[in-house]
Amino acid sequence: MLAAVLTAACSPNDPAQHTAADTSADAVADPLSAEAIEQIYWRSCHSCHGGGVNGAPRTGDSAAWAPRLAKGMDTLVANAINGYKAMPPRGLCFDCSEAQFAGLIRYMAAEQPKPE
Ligand code: HEC
Repeated sequence: MLAAVLTAACSPNDPAQHTAADTSADAVADPLSAEAIEQIYWRSCHSCHGGGVNGAPRTGDSAAWAPRLAKGMDTLVANAINGYKAMPPRGLCFDCSEAQFAGLIRYMAAEQPKPE
């Protein structure tokens, strides 16, 4: 406890501590941060892309995403916004920007440990 107090007392000018705190605050405020994209994903895309509903390419299944990515990011973003076959327009994220859709697509297409 005393150590914590002493550390706190000595730290106001410690740049490392400030950087760490600022980074996490910015990450939440930045709409393109990994945290923000992940939150949107869980809110808007996971219900279909998590389990592959109606043939949706599954999140983390990079093999399923490869032929999609081959169309080019612009096409995928446009299809996500306009809808594509069983994919509903905007994937239920009505306030997402194009950059956020691109981030969501990269997030889903990336090889990653399965959520859940
Ligand atoms: C109601 C279910 C559903 C939701 C919610 C959903 N998707 Fe989809 N999505 C699909 C299905 C089904 C497909 C496969 C369509 C096909 O190729 O037949 C798909 C395909 C896609 C594709 C590939 C399009 C292409 O050109 O091949 C992208 C990109 C995509 N979704 C992005 C998103 C994003 C981003 C979100 C969340 C913001 C989202 N989807 C939410 C069902 C959904």
